[in-house]
Amino acid sequence: MNSKSHWNTVYETKEDNELGWYESDPVTTLDLIKKTSIAKDATILNVGAGTTTLVDALLENGYETIIASDISDVALQKLHSRIAKTYQYDLQCIVDDLTNSSKLSTLSNIDLWIDRAVLHFFLSEEEQVAYFDLIKKIISPKGYVLIAVFSLEGAEKCSGLPLQRYNTEMLSERLGNQFSLVESFQHTYVNPFGGERPYIFTLFQKN
Ligand SMILES: C[S@@+](CC[C@H](N)C(=O)[O-])C[C@H]1O[C@@H](n2cnc3c(N)ncnc32)[C@H](O)[C@@H]1O
Repeated sequence: MNSKSHWNTVYETKEDNELGWYESDPVTTLDLIKKTSIAKDATILNVGAGTTTLVDALLENGYETIIASDISDVALQKLHSRIAKTYQYDLQCIVDDLTNSSKLSTLSNIDLWIDRAVLHFFLSEEEQVAYFDLIKKIISPKGYVLIAVFSLEGAEKCSGLPLQRYNTEMLSERLGNQFSLVESFQHTYVNPFGGERPYIFTLFQKN
């Protein structure tokens, strides 16, 4: 089964609160976003967004220009329709593969890139290089990159898939010297089934 079918099946067969990464209130990510200096009309790209409640939280906090992307069209349809119904907001959704991008790579001037729980699924050198090259290509000068992934102490699998876990230094190295670390911290997320999932949250800014 390829990645797109895997993720589409997940979103077709589970309600949001049955997902092992579901957060009713994405407060940790939102608090970190508030530490950036981005304007309310800045362009925010949430990659591997799934059906995240972060889009709801961003709208409720006044952010106006949000793009959601995912490899799963099923997830994005669910997200788009929930956001339209709740906020009468026409969320821009882009179905694309972060490791082999055709659409995201045409974007530019992204002020904030947000990844929660996506990068750690990319295991090969080629996939990881493609992911970081995409960031470097489309982020604006002084733009921010927020990456929250399983830490070195985190679980070895998620959604039945093996993971590459990270610490801050590994992410810094991948981003390279064009980016400076603003903040990083460990955070243990407790999933809907009571499982503890240690994450590393990082915020970088392009120099
Ligand atoms: C663990 S979920 C996290 C979803 C969301 N970020 C959240 O915090 O609720 C991982 C997400 O990454 C997406 N994904 C996996 N591989 C991808 C790829 N190659 N390109 C884009 N999205 C991908 C999946 O469809 C899924 O929605």
